[in-house]
Amino acid sequence: ARLNTLVNDPFQLSRPDVHDISETIGNDLVGTDHPVLNSAARYFFTPNEDGKGKGKQVRPVMVMLISRAMEDAANVEKSHLPAAHVYKSQRRLAEITEMIHTASLFHDDVIDGADTRRGQPAAHREFGNKMAILAGDYLLARASICLARLRNVDVVECMSTVIEHLVRGEVLQIKDNRTGVADMEGYLRKNFYKTASLMANSCKSAALLRGNVSGEVVDAAYLYGKHIGVAFQLIDDALDFEGSAASLGKPALADLNAGLSTAPVLFAAENHPELVPAMARKFKEQGDIQLALKCIEETEGVRRTKKLAAIHAEKAMDAIVSALDPSPHRDSLVHLACRVVDRSR
Ligand code: FPP
Ligand code: MG
Ligand code: MG
Repeated sequence: ARLNTLVNDPFQLSRPDVHDISETIGNDLVGTDHPVLNSAARYFFTPNEDGKGKGKQVRPVMVMLISRAMEDAANVEKSHLPAAHVYKSQRRLAEITEMIHTASLFHDDVIDGADTRRGQPAAHREFGNKMAILAGDYLLARASICLARLRNVDVVECMSTVIEHLVRGEVLQIKDNRTGVADMEGYLRKNFYKTASLMANSCKSAALLRGNVSGEVVDAAYLYGKHIGVAFQLIDDALDFEGSAASLGKPALADLNAGLSTAPVLFAAENHPELVPAMARKFKEQGDIQLALKCIEETEGVRRTKKLAAIHAEKAMDAIVSALDPSPHRDSLVHLACRVVDRSR
């Protein structure tokens, strides 16, 4: 059983397909002759010796594993395109996914005024706000060119929709932030836009690039990514209450301090209506944060958040298991769903 766990470890199994993604992006996809733009755009794609700056690359891992799992599945017909061509385009998709994600982080850290990211200074701390925004725009531009070169308009539409959703999610968060009070449904919708859409649409695009797959497989890829994404963001929001700056590579209790009511607070408010005024004023008054922490503790808000994440992780597993016949790569996708819920950073 132990050997099996190792064999189906998603990060180990995808290593041959993703280990040099940062290098490819940094060396081949985002280089420019302007020295400042060049170093800003490549900031997270040139990992230093201690491996910091690279991130978990969970999106490329998902794209490559789903690509392999479709190839392995006995119930999926052979692609009518040459295998090497399909692989190259899916690998480029994985790179595009990471570029879009990194662009959104450059912008996000400016909006949130975050000092650190992935255990190092945030891009705007290193290059200033203006260059961080422009470098994010530049990454998006380069990602768009790469996307167009895949010569698949359905994939272009999918991945462009992601960019719209990222912006929409961020705006919804700022709007929530203003009113202070968010319902669980609105919160989950925002999580879809800001996190799950990228995972859903990049998994779906991996299926579209392969071609010759049933609508059922395309939908399963989308649903897998979507539910992993929702689970991933729920855990992110739970970890904000549990983790330390050292374990997260970014400040803890950042959401409460920013006035955001995430799932643990929303659960707590169901039993403690006295929390609602504090949420509405973005926890700005003396004692608001302490009150929120006390209510969350009493109502097990963090545990309930993780439980909701586990439900979404299971939906992700169901989607992939019912659409694809078994293989090590399919099983590693199931493992990944578990890992998302168990992670501590
Ligand atoms: C991280 O969330 C942020 C995102 C997932 C999306 C950010 C999107 C934008 C800034 C819109 C602009 C989009 C593009 C494509 C340039 P977080 O702040 O909750 O997480 P964190 O704790 O990791 O900072
Ligand atoms: Mg942020
Ligand atoms: Mg943010």
